Amino acid sequence: MVDYKITSAIMGERPEFQLPNRGFLDTLKPDGFMKLIHRFYAEVLESEIAHYFPDDEEELELIKKRNGSYFMMMCGGDDRYISKFGGDFDQVKTHKPFSIPDKARTEWLGCWEIVLREIENEVNHEDIQSYWNWLEVFSKHIVNYENDRQTREDIAKTK
Ligand code: HEM
Repeated sequence: MVDYKITSAIMGERPEFQLPNRGFLDTLKPDGFMKLIHRFYAEVLESEIAHYFPDDEEELELIKKRNGSYFMMMCGGDDRYISKFGGDFDQVKTHKPFSIPDKARTEWLGCWEIVLREIENEVNHEDIQSYWNWLEVFSKHIVNYENDRQTREDIAKTK
């Protein structure tokens, strides 16, 4: 059984994390991984954090590609994310333009939980658990805003 536990993030903390098992990507293969990324973004666009992401389909496709290749790299796959997509290796900096409180992180993790449950029959649960644990801990590094403040994205949503 996979335990999709979420513990609270404290803004500014940088807890140590372990990378996911290589088996997660080995089982899914890059095609299966990208399908998962597409499912994840479909959930994101239906969620409370949809307004963080661009409406433009081409822009979103690029984000999926970059995000997918970065995540695969973290799972032990192709490490050419930086040269291929001009991506910023520093994920904290990459997310700086957005105000991300812990509640947005929780919503983001909730989207992952939905799509990871869908592959529980295909992928070894230990491997899913290792991927979840990495997401859960590393996403704490991305939190850069207090929960009780209205974010730029919240303001944009009401306009
Ligand atoms: C494990 C934690 C996370 C990792 C490793 C991660 C990684 C990434 C990557 C690689 C991209 C693509 C960046 C690029 O275009 O080069 C991205 C984009 C994005 N992420 Fe994350 N992310 C994480 C957590 C979150 C969370 C919790 C949020 C909360 C809302 C978030 C919001 C976004 C947004 C809004 C974009 C789109 C950026 C744009 O419009 O260019 N991310 N993320």
